Amino acid sequence: MTEPFDVVDIIIDKRDGHRLTPSQIDWVIEAYTNSRIAEEQMSALLMAIFLRGLERDELNRWTGAMIASGERLNYAGIAKVMVDKHSTGGVGDKITLPLTPLIASFGLGVPQLSGRGLGHTGGTLDKLESIPGWRAALTNTEMMRQLETVGAVICQAGSGLAPADRKLYALRDVTGTVASIPLIASSIMSKKIAEGTAGLVLDVKSGSGAFMTELDRARELAQTMVEIGADHGVHTTALITDMSTPLGLTIGNALEVRESVEVLAGGGPADVVELTVQLAREMLDSAARIVEREGIPAAGIRPASAEAMQQAGRLREADPREALQNGQAMDSWRAMIAAQGGDPEAELAWARHTEVISSPESGYLTGLDALKVGVAAWRLGAGRARREDAVQAGAGIVLHAKPGDFLTGGQPLMTLHSDTPTCFERAHQALVGAWSFASQPFPPTPVVRARITM
Ligand code: URA
Repeated sequence: MTEPFDVVDIIIDKRDGHRLTPSQIDWVIEAYTNSRIAEEQMSALLMAIFLRGLERDELNRWTGAMIASGERLNYAGIAKVMVDKHSTGGVGDKITLPLTPLIASFGLGVPQLSGRGLGHTGGTLDKLESIPGWRAALTNTEMMRQLETVGAVICQAGSGLAPADRKLYALRDVTGTVASIPLIASSIMSKKIAEGTAGLVLDVKSGSGAFMTELDRARELAQTMVEIGADHGVHTTALITDMSTPLGLTIGNALEVRESVEVLAGGGPADVVELTVQLAREMLDSAARIVEREGIPAAGIRPASAEAMQQAGRLREADPREALQNGQAMDSWRAMIAAQGGDPEAELAWARHTEVISSPESGYLTGLDALKVGVAAWRLGAGRARREDAVQAGAGIVLHAKPGDFLTGGQPLMTLHSDTPTCFERAHQALVGAWSFASQPFPPTPVVRARITM
C-alpha cells in the first residue's frame, strides 16, 4: 500500500513546532490504529505533541480522527434526550451511582459507559459488581432497550468505541506522555463523543487525589474539553471540584455502593449530596437547552416548538434534591440495577477483618489527604495494580470524620476493611502523614471550585 505521508516528516513537523494539517492528522491516527505506523514512531510523535502541544483546530481534528477510528452510537430512535457525566476520577468518587438514576428519573437517557479502576482511584464497574448478579457487559441492543425503558444504563464501554484511544493510551502509559492536556482531553472526549450523548457535564477534579493536582491545570483541561465538545456539537459544561480529601465517608467498592444507596434514600454525607445535586442541575439545564434547540425528533417534538419549550421549562424547574428525598431517584436505581441482573435488595459483602485508627490528638481535623487514603484503600484490596487483578468487594476505608470536624484524642478517625489481614501494615504505611489537626476551626474548601462553559 502506498501511503500519502511519511510519518517521519510528520514527527519532524511537530518536533519543530509546526501545525499539522488535517490530512496529516487523519492519516496518522488511521494508520496507527491499523498498525501501519511503528510504536517507536508514534512514541516520538506523542512526545513531540507533549512538548509542543496542539492548537485548537489541530486538537479538534485529532479528536475527530480518534472518534472516526471506531463506531459512534446513535440514539435517533429513542424518544429521550441523552445526557452524560464524566469524572476525571478521584478517591471515594461514587457520584455516578446516585446521579445516573437520578437524571433518568426526570425522563432523560444517561448512557454511562464506564471503566474499571486502575491504581488509587476506583472504577464504577468494580463498585457495581459488588451487587450480586449485576452484569457490566451489555450488547448495544440491550443498552438501547434499557435506555428506552429505564433511561439509566451504566455498563462497560464496547471495544468498538474510539479504538485509537486504547492503543494511544497504552503507549502514552509507557512513554511518559500521559500528563499532556491535549492528549488527555482528546482521549476522554473521543470516547464520550463516540458514545453519542447530546449533552455532557464534566467533573474535573483538582487536588492531591486527582489526575490534575493544580487548580490552574484542572481549569485548562476543563476549558480544552469544553471547547472540543462544543466544536463537535456536544453541549458541554465542566465543574472543577475538590479532590484534596476523599468524597464522602467511604472508599471501596461495596462500601461506596452502600453510601450511594443512602444518598438515594435521602441521606448520605453532605459533600456527596451537594456534588450529586450540582452535577444534576448542570445535566438538567443542558438537556433543557438541547430540547429547545434540537427538539426530540423520535417523540415528534420539533426544535423551538411550544412543546419543546414546555419540556425545557419542566427540566429547568426540576428539583434533584427533592427527587433524592421522595423516592423518585431510588425507584430509578432499583430499575437500573434489576435491568442488568442485579438484586437491589441483596446484602452486600463486608470484609472479613477490620482495624480502627484512632485520632492521635484532640483538635479540628484540617486535612485528610485523598491520595494517601486512596493508596491505602487500594492496598487493602479495593483496587488493582494490573488490569487482570481481582478486587475485593468489601475492602476499603470508612472515615469517621472529615476536615472541619472536631475530634478528641482516641476517638475513631477511620476503620480499615480487608479480607487479607497481611495488607493492614502496608495500608498504615500509606497513611503516614495523611491527617493534620489544628486547635482552631477553619473554613472548609467548597466541593465545587469553578464552573467552565462556553
Ligand atoms: N482518562 C482517559 O480516558 N484518558 C486520559 O488520557 C486520562 C484519563
